[in-house]
Amino acid sequence: MSKRWIGLVVVLWVTACSPIDPKLKQYLVEGERLYVLHCSNCHQRDGQGLRRVYPPLAGSDYLKENLPRVICSMKYGLQGEIIVNGIMYNQAMPGVPSLTELELAEIATYLYNSWGTQTGLIDARRIGPLLDSCARPRPRR
Ligand code: HEC
Repeated sequence: MSKRWIGLVVVLWVTACSPIDPKLKQYLVEGERLYVLHCSNCHQRDGQGLRRVYPPLAGSDYLKENLPRVICSMKYGLQGEIIVNGIMYNQAMPGVPSLTELELAEIATYLYNSWGTQTGLIDARRIGPLLDSCARPRPRR
């Protein structure tokens, strides 16, 4: 076999066996788009936040430990004192109530698989139960 053929076989083999799950890829692409649209004004494109006003998402211990609260705050907002990597923040973050469960999952997947973290896909089916855990009174029927 010529060198070219060997090269081609190797490329095909690597492509076929590479672990990039198309669903994960799709979530990451959409998640990044939505992040830029809804979040990067404050938290910045690189997730570093802004001084003591907007906390960082990149390397955030709060983000790592509080998936349910992170999902809830994207939709319903967040306020009151929080501590991120040892620094206290106390500003109101507005929620984006129009975000769907799929969009929340895509943004969360982006957050939890960027800037050095790799947690894998956060499936849209997980979001409903997490939203139910938000301490937010539901409208009565
Ligand atoms: C108007 C500015 C603003 C926007 C837009 C915004 N945030 Fe925030 N975010 C804040 C502020 C301020 C806090 C701190 C809230 C507090 O002090 O209680 C925060 C806190 C957080 C936290 C928890 C703390 C941390 O750093 O880990 C996460 C996670 C988060 N935001 C994610 C998002 C995501 C995802 C979006 C987009 C859907 C978003 N934010 C949009 C201002 C913003």
